[in-house]
Amino acid sequence: MPIVAPSLLASDFLHLADECKMLNESEADWFHLDVMDGRFVPNISYGMSIIKQMRKTTNKPFDVHLMILEPEKYAEEFKEAGADHLIVHIEACVHLHRNIQQIKSLGMKAGVALNPHTPVFLLQDILADIDQVLIMSVNPGFGGQEFIPHTITKIRELRKMIDDNNLNVKIEIDGGVTLENAKEIVNAGANVLVAGSTVFKAPDPKKIIAELKSI
Ligand code: DX5
Ligand code: ZN
Repeated sequence: MPIVAPSLLASDFLHLADECKMLNESEADWFHLDVMDGRFVPNISYGMSIIKQMRKTTNKPFDVHLMILEPEKYAEEFKEAGADHLIVHIEACVHLHRNIQQIKSLGMKAGVALNPHTPVFLLQDILADIDQVLIMSVNPGFGGQEFIPHTITKIRELRKMIDDNNLNVKIEIDGGVTLENAKEIVNAGANVLVAGSTVFKAPDPKKIIAELKSI
């Protein structure tokens, strides 16, 4: 059964408390929270103050996806705001190993995200140090984009790398996940499905979450 992590980027920000309540009552496993700085990606979303407010609504893990440059400057503040997992982009980190150690020393699970063009073999010397890999299946920055089919090949390659090395690293897929492609994604070896529009733009989000869980 996959872990389902709805992305609040597609939620109704005017009714954020209701959206959090809905997720809390649903079968969703994690809250996926997208932080954008307008530099690493051409969009700006929300930051730690909003995450801190959301933290009061739930005990479910906060999976924080940082689409920002210099994430080391803010790791501690995200921990204080309530992040359980902190995911940094490989393309944004000059000293990735140092960043991962920092996240772990703060008591969070550490994840590395890859843009669609970034090959999974670049993870070879960091894979044993991390808890999860987030494979972007769209170009980061916006919700509601179409899934890039080549992602399936990347999931299979990464699954093989993880299994060949007997590691316990989760594979998370983010972008364009739908009820139609979720099965193929899970069959290729992913454990975590991030879904924004598919969940929040549906008339009955709880039902969609349950359907993604039962894939
Ligand atoms: C995009 C974000 C995603 C986004 C996914 O940069 O990382 O988490 O919210 O949205 P959908 O599921 O609508 O593609
Ligand atoms: Zn994300």
